[in-house]
Amino acid sequence: MQRTLLPNHQVQRTSDYKCSAPYYPTMQLPGLTDIHVHLREPGATHKEDFATGTAAALAGGVTTVLAMPNTQPPLVDAASFALARQAAEAKAHCDYGLYLGATLINAPQIAALASQAAGLKLYLDATYGPLLLDDMAAWAAHLEHWPRSRPIVAHAEGKTMAALLFFAALHGRHVHICHVSRRDEILLIKAAKEKGYPVTCEVTPHHLFLSTADVPAIGAGRAEVRPRLASPADVQALWDNLDVIDCFATDHAPHTLAEKDSANPPSGFPGLETALPLLLTAAYEGRLTVDDIITRMHTNPRRIFGLPAQPETSVEVDVGEWHHIQAADCRSRSGWTPFEGRPVRARVRRVILRGQEVYRDGQVLSSPGFGKNIRIGI
Ligand code: DOR
Ligand code: ZN
Ligand code: ZN
Repeated sequence: MQRTLLPNHQVQRTSDYKCSAPYYPTMQLPGLTDIHVHLREPGATHKEDFATGTAAALAGGVTTVLAMPNTQPPLVDAASFALARQAAEAKAHCDYGLYLGATLINAPQIAALASQAAGLKLYLDATYGPLLLDDMAAWAAHLEHWPRSRPIVAHAEGKTMAALLFFAALHGRHVHICHVSRRDEILLIKAAKEKGYPVTCEVTPHHLFLSTADVPAIGAGRAEVRPRLASPADVQALWDNLDVIDCFATDHAPHTLAEKDSANPPSGFPGLETALPLLLTAAYEGRLTVDDIITRMHTNPRRIFGLPAQPETSVEVDVGEWHHIQAADCRSRSGWTPFEGRPVRARVRRVILRGQEVYRDGQVLSSPGFGKNIRIGI
């Protein structure tokens, strides 16, 4: 398929060729939405909190984050959900929504909180945190109780994904599959879509730009992530099936460098500040288009999650110069990135959120608490 490079209508010159100042093409994008982030509050704010995580989001051109419930305590009832809501309300720099987590016993209770939640998260395979729904009777209870007006999203790899798609088909309802990483998975979702089943999916930048071939350079402990980094052939299959991918989502999963380098490294990569530079660099190289990125990080997230529009919101990106990704330039408390040293050709310069300049040249300008809960009203 022929894919165009950066479209001309989105590239504006900020200085003239004839003057001595350097030529910096800049690009205007809409505010991006990352539907899959871990902000670690409550319970593990030494890794990240709502202030540092949402500051990192703005630095990455992301104006809305949907935060996962595998916190300490996990967000599985009214009390824990209120705790996270209060922290987010006080500290968030960008707009946000909060997921609720499914447990073996909470299906009826959390359905009552659905209107306030970004969606319901089902953890169907083992990963970081205490949430694991390993009893199929509980899957059915959540599919029955959770209102259809709010999405169900799932960590479901391989055969687990196949089983969930069958359950969802039986219940005649939509599910969104998180972080698809392998050829067999993307082909299964493609086949389900071709049959008309209402399934959507996301892919992370780390599964698009890293593979098992990168593990030695990253280091085995740091490279721990769920789903694991896949083979180069799996990565190629994701690129070959870009049309099946509804969203790009980071699965921003901050852990400190000390934790990642310990004897028992937790799984997860930070990603909020590197996603857009990596994707725009791939656009520069002709691997996808800028419109492909906007569709998957703005249009589709809003449609799938029923998110409100953010008026007067835009992101200005400098796409005129190469630089290297460095954790030292990042705001996430995790303090490292699996993409250290990677050359990219895009840097977020300025973010306007709801008419206010909230980020400029490395500085977050919005106050903690400026961010609004997308379910309470923007
Ligand atoms: O690697 C991962 N880390 N995968 C997940 O599913 C969870 C995440 C985390 O919360 O750290
Ligand atoms: Zn997951
Ligand atoms: Zn996750």
